[in-house]
Amino acid sequence: MLAPHGLTVEGPTSGDAAALAASAAPRVLLGECLASLLRPTSFEAERYRVLRHAVETMRRDAHLQVVAVTSPGTADGKTTTAINLAGALAQAPGARVLLADVDFRRPALTRQLGLEDRRPGVLDVLLQPEFTVADSVRRLAQFNLSVLPAGVGAVAPYEALKLPRFEELLEEARQRYDYVVLDTPPFVPVPDGRLISGCVDGFLVVVAAHRTPRKELAEALGLMDPAKVVGLVFNGDDAPIPPYYSRYADPRRRDRSWWRYHRGFYERRTQREESPSTWSRSDGPRDA
Ligand SMILES: Nc1ncnc2c1ncn2[C@@H]1O[C@H](COP(=O)(O)OP(=O)(O)OP(=O)(O)O)[C@@H](O)[C@H]1O
Ligand SMILES: [Mg+2]
Repeated sequence: MLAPHGLTVEGPTSGDAAALAASAAPRVLLGECLASLLRPTSFEAERYRVLRHAVETMRRDAHLQVVAVTSPGTADGKTTTAINLAGALAQAPGARVLLADVDFRRPALTRQLGLEDRRPGVLDVLLQPEFTVADSVRRLAQFNLSVLPAGVGAVAPYEALKLPRFEELLEEARQRYDYVVLDTPPFVPVPDGRLISGCVDGFLVVVAAHRTPRKELAEALGLMDPAKVVGLVFNGDDAPIPPYYSRYADPRRRDRSWWRYHRGFYERRTQREESPSTWSRSDGPRDA
């Protein structure tokens, strides 16, 4: 099945993909926030790779496997961050990565990914014994990524997250995947984050640059178990792309001379066995 912007989806489907795919407008909007998936060589994708590296390191050093992405308030960029982090993690050869939507109030994973439906998903697994994680995930094979939508169920989010089955669901996910990235609701206004705290290994807290009030961030951090806060992610930072990087980032600007210089840079470094702190400015890549 082909969903908008060309994601090939394997797994349960519900049939209205054609209607969504017929709409040109969502394609543009969707693509803008999917750098890790659709523009892996972009500067934005590299920033998410920095986050991936931090999570991979914590996986190795601190057994971080189930990571929940949250933020103090609404629209800070939780879903965007969760998708791009999962996409970046999934680029490692052989990595088994699950991206799951546990924001039952404003489920957005399927919409942002351009998938056609949000069931079956987490709620279906929680409420109906015949559903398992294994047979509810959608596989985005070209991105090596598995997605578990929010699902549908006539239950209050608070009650759903308190079900013992929620822990079982995460346990099944732990068995099947190396990384489980959860897209969750905002931490301050609703109790969901506090409920799942005991089942996850850590929270990444998204802070929207120039937008998230400092007071709200302090309130969120005050509500969280400090041991579970594994990092803050500044979303929408408008710092300019360094000139050095803009040349490196854009494949259309990779001329041969740059690559020659790049190779020489590392060869010289190895030969001299110098530490990074002793490199002079002239050692770095520069315009050809
Ligand atoms: N880094 C970014 N660059 C461009 N647009 C972004 C970025 N981060 C978020 N957005 C846009 O901002 C809006 C809110 O982002 P997102 O849905 O990720 O936030 P959220 O915290 O998950 O929201 P909610 O609280 O409703 O779950 C979306 O339209 C998204 O496309
Ligand atoms: Mg969201």
